[in-house]
Amino acid sequence: MNRQIILAERPRYLMPTHNCFELRQAPVPAPSDGEVLIRTLWLALDPYLHGRMKRINSQAQPVAIGDVMVGATVGRVQTSNHPDFSENDLVVGFWGWQDYCVSNGSRIMKLQTELERSHPSYALGAMSRVSGLGAYISMLHVAKPKPGETVVIGAATGGVGQIAGQLAKMEGARVVGYAGSPEKCDFAVKELGFDACVCHRDPDFGEALRDACAEGVHVYLESVGGEPMDHVLPLLNHYARVPVMGLIAQWSTGGTNANDTRMAFLTQVMAKRLRVEGVISNDFFQSHFRDFQTEMANWITTKQIKIVEHVVDGLEHAPRALQGMFQTGQHMGKLVVKVSE
Ligand SMILES: NC(=O)c1ccc[n+]([C@@H]2O[C@H](COP(=O)([O-])OP(=O)(O)OC[C@H]3O[C@@H](n4cnc5c(N)ncnc54)[C@H](OP(=O)(O)O)[C@@H]3O)[C@@H](O)[C@H]2O)c1
Repeated sequence: MNRQIILAERPRYLMPTHNCFELRQAPVPAPSDGEVLIRTLWLALDPYLHGRMKRINSQAQPVAIGDVMVGATVGRVQTSNHPDFSENDLVVGFWGWQDYCVSNGSRIMKLQTELERSHPSYALGAMSRVSGLGAYISMLHVAKPKPGETVVIGAATGGVGQIAGQLAKMEGARVVGYAGSPEKCDFAVKELGFDACVCHRDPDFGEALRDACAEGVHVYLESVGGEPMDHVLPLLNHYARVPVMGLIAQWSTGGTNANDTRMAFLTQVMAKRLRVEGVISNDFFQSHFRDFQTEMANWITTKQIKIVEHVVDGLEHAPRALQGMFQTGQHMGKLVVKVSE
């Protein structure tokens, strides 16, 4: 059978809850001429999935009620009736939360690098067009940290944060992370090589962040927003660069003092002549993906960049894991679901 997790209803509150999903059993589809049957191995859980569950989505079509939940996937070709694919090819695509899918080859791609073929889940994280490419573009093409500058990174041990922080270190910057637990902060410093990391749930977070950024902040990779952002803003130096990738705290809590935060932010943008640039990794797919994959594979293989993954075992646990993504202090590393061997 083909287990499929479908969108049963849209989130009633801010975050998805278990009633949003339903497990359905369907027959394993049969590939026709020119098609392949793919067995899912890995499924990526990314924050943007929350937007795809809502009725209105400014960037992409929302998932219809009753449809298979979407998401980036890696799988193995089980049967091929397509001239470009062979049995056992590893492919990446977007067929969502199900054990099997049939494809005509137009929306799947063979894993390109040896690194991904030996570690297929990396195709959904460090080597992907979402977290990996997003961290790479934000840091190396937008923020461009210089040696000695201070770079602040939120969700420091997450899919984007871990890579962005290590790239900034490679550029010679001082990297200060913030994360949702002391264990995550310890990990960022001891394992990922950040210079400091402070827990944003501590009551004295603001003070600790200020102490860790004695020379102010030259680069802030904004992927969190909310209350942590309120503490970073006053520390920004003149001409600081702020790539804006996401506002997960705003989505998961509705933001704290949302209006005040925005006013404070705009005041800082003007007064300090900040360069603020929105980054959507997918915009850079055509122009930068090949270079990014070559460089990232080299950095990971030569151990200049370390990758952390949080693996959830079993398709049936994907809904709960997605909910955990919108809570602070939970999983560490890129969140992936292992669907089969
Ligand atoms: N623009 C783009 O192209 C692009 C691409 C990829 C990702 N993104 C964005 O980048 C951000 C990180 O994505 P990711 O894939 O790397 O996810 P992730 O960091 O692996 O997971 C999300 C993390 O966000 C933190 N978080 C959740 N709710 C929070 C809250 N209320 N306050 C503070 N922190 C909270 C938690 O970390 P702690 O436990 O450490 O707090 C959580 O583990 C998201 O905003 C995402 O939308 C954008």
